[in-house]
Amino acid sequence: MKVGIPKEIVDNENRVAATPKTVKRLIKQGFEVFIETKAGENAQYSDESFQSAGAHILTSAQEIYSTADIILKVQAVSSEEINMMQEEQVMLSYLNPAQNGDLLQQLANKRINAIAMDAIPRISRAQKMDVLSSMANIAGYRSVIEGANYFGRFLNGQITAAGKVDPAKVLVIGAGVAGLAAIGTAKSLGAIVRAFDTRMEVAEQINSMGAEFLTVDIDEDGSTDSGYSKVMSQAFIDAEMALFKEQAKEVDIIITTAQIPGRSAPKLILDYHVAAMKPGSVIVDLAASSGGNCSLTRNNEVYTTDNGVTIVGKIDQLPAQASQLYGNNLCHLLDDMGKAEHFKIDLEDDVVKRAMVCRNGEIHWPPEPLPVSPTKTKNDTQALDENAASTATTSAMSKGVRMFITLGIIAALLYLIGLVAPTEFMGHFTVFVLSVFIGWQVIWNVSHSLHTPLMAVTNAISGIIIIGGLLQTRNSLSDPMTILAFIAIFVASINIVGGFFVTHRMLKMFRK
Ligand code: NAI
Repeated sequence: MKVGIPKEIVDNENRVAATPKTVKRLIKQGFEVFIETKAGENAQYSDESFQSAGAHILTSAQEIYSTADIILKVQAVSSEEINMMQEEQVMLSYLNPAQNGDLLQQLANKRINAIAMDAIPRISRAQKMDVLSSMANIAGYRSVIEGANYFGRFLNGQITAAGKVDPAKVLVIGAGVAGLAAIGTAKSLGAIVRAFDTRMEVAEQINSMGAEFLTVDIDEDGSTDSGYSKVMSQAFIDAEMALFKEQAKEVDIIITTAQIPGRSAPKLILDYHVAAMKPGSVIVDLAASSGGNCSLTRNNEVYTTDNGVTIVGKIDQLPAQASQLYGNNLCHLLDDMGKAEHFKIDLEDDVVKRAMVCRNGEIHWPPEPLPVSPTKTKNDTQALDENAASTATTSAMSKGVRMFITLGIIAALLYLIGLVAPTEFMGHFTVFVLSVFIGWQVIWNVSHSLHTPLMAVTNAISGIIIIGGLLQTRNSLSDPMTILAFIAIFVASINIVGGFFVTHRMLKMFRK
């Protein structure tokens, strides 16, 4: 089977749907690869590098479209490109099917079997084919680099001989894939990071990355079964705007990534927010191409407002790396579709079924919903809470009963031993049994997060036991006291050596 990669013709699109590495991979999958001359030029991949990877270079897009069985592209095809295509050709590219009804119709009229890479369902199995994630990750990282560049000051705080520099404050709006990548990058550069999202499930992720999760005083959650956010109520958006107005006065960089699939980006930063920002502040709008989250964003432009705020509506795509990841996503999908030898459009496959938006002259959009989010609905959560509450009561009762029985058995054993044992022995024995019991109870109830300090305390106790053991050893090895002392020293040493061993392993986990 022949795979063809034409040069991208959309303005400012520097990516290409294959790189020399992915060409090698496609050849390994059994495909013959044809690429248009200069297709990789803007992503720093020369014709020679493609040729040495095993691709054939063709001189025009027309040749590619008339040679290949499968077309790999980044941007959706134009009407002129569709005219060059052949019926029944398979095409994989971005298509934005929710907003490109006319294009889908044209593809269906030409009987193109079109797979929208931006419609791959967000299920675990499809993560390796998910271009939205791989590209959003790059955009999130780059948004911080661009923001820092236009901000023109340190992002981290510093105390120098010349004076103190405060860390920059970054607000990230929308904590999906791009937002989380932006949070990670801004944190690693030393900024104070705050983030807002309509989906409450991301709060933990934001906090775990060291950023502050901002909230509004409205009980509404944007999470849906699809994993994406829903359109929020006007009351929520108003509260969100009010929050951003306060934040706009304080923060230095705002990075917006908020999207709702199939719609224009929600407008969240309006002119009065921009007016409230300090001169020198920066807004990086990652939603610029879908209408922008900021009402003043100009797509594909960077400009500075009258009050000195730079609004970035265009960021570097990092085309070399982006093409590599995009190409990998395509290879994974072709792998899933049976490679060259067993290539098949399997509509039983959840991924192909949902992403194949045109098939045999028909449009298949929108697809059936496929729940992907681990989010619990409110009812689920309530049911779980009630369940948990009743389980907790039962287990608390059974725990009490168990404790009562254990104490009863211990008391009975002590009484029975006391009937025959000498009085002096009984005193020590009772202390021993009680310490084992109390020690067990204390350690068992310590939460996992406190196991490190617990280890430190048990090591200290082991040290005391070793000293006690040494003091009890006598000259004779057959003396029962010496034997017991040796056993005590041995067991306590295991604890101490084990403690060092575990600590060493934990430290190794943090070494880079
Ligand atoms: P996206 O690009 O559609 O949206 C970005 C973010 O904007 C989302 O977090 C959304 O909640 C937020 N947003 C929407 N309206 C907003 C508003 N008014 N104010 C503030 N924030 C708003 O989403 P993305 O990044 O593509 O992914 C969304 C989720 O999908 C992920 O967080 C994840 O749970 C899931 N996912 C699953 C994958 C898989 O399992 N294969 C792969 C990638 C994502």
